[in-house]
Amino acid sequence: MKYFLDSAKMDEIKEAYEYLGIDGVTTNPKHIMNSGKPFRTAIEDIAKWTQEQGFKDYNDFPVSVEINPHFMEAEDMLKMAREISKVSPCFVIKIPSVYGGLKAARILEKEGIRTNLTLVFSPAQAILPAKAGCLFVSPFIGWKETNGEDCKKYIQDIVDIYRNYGYYGKTQIIAAAIRTPKQIGDCAVAGCDIVTAGLDVFKDAIKHPYTDQGLKTFQDCWDNTVTE
Ligand code: E4P
Repeated sequence: MKYFLDSAKMDEIKEAYEYLGIDGVTTNPKHIMNSGKPFRTAIEDIAKWTQEQGFKDYNDFPVSVEINPHFMEAEDMLKMAREISKVSPCFVIKIPSVYGGLKAARILEKEGIRTNLTLVFSPAQAILPAKAGCLFVSPFIGWKETNGEDCKKYIQDIVDIYRNYGYYGKTQIIAAAIRTPKQIGDCAVAGCDIVTAGLDVFKDAIKHPYTDQGLKTFQDCWDNTVTE
């Protein structure tokens, strides 16, 4: 399973790539705002870094960049998507799962501009992006679980549907808004292609209280052994 970093902060992207070996980046308007930079500067900085790393295009290292979320008409979305896509060959255009978005995604994919249909909250919503040939679909996990839903079945259903109809691997499933190591495990068991999460979540996934307890036991043993 691939790991994408959900962030537009360059220090986090560099750290996650260098030390965790992340396979891509996803951004959204919230992450761009949190970077503290103007939209254009934030995406150009990421583009520059991908170039410095020698990534040729989205196959090497995809970076999802979301269009203006106020746009509802495909024409507006298409105009902005085409502009953004010129900034970097690594960019994948993130478009909301609304009717105009689906329309735009289908056209962009035919033009060779890859897309990520985002804000997906049901298995039915996940089917149309696959039929449109989107590179990615982003079902959100964290937001649903925060509101009391167990997402294990939700994500398994999407994986099963994709397997049933030959979409699996063509439109890659990014389990998004991942908040906990358990959610990472659940997505991996279900067969998700990718999880996207913040740096803290990936760091948490390295930890376990028993690891700390075991470490303490071994440290005490070490201190009570003649080691030289
Ligand atoms: C996914 O691609 C989104 O950027 C992301 O996971 C949205 O959720 P969050 O910003 O609340 O984590």
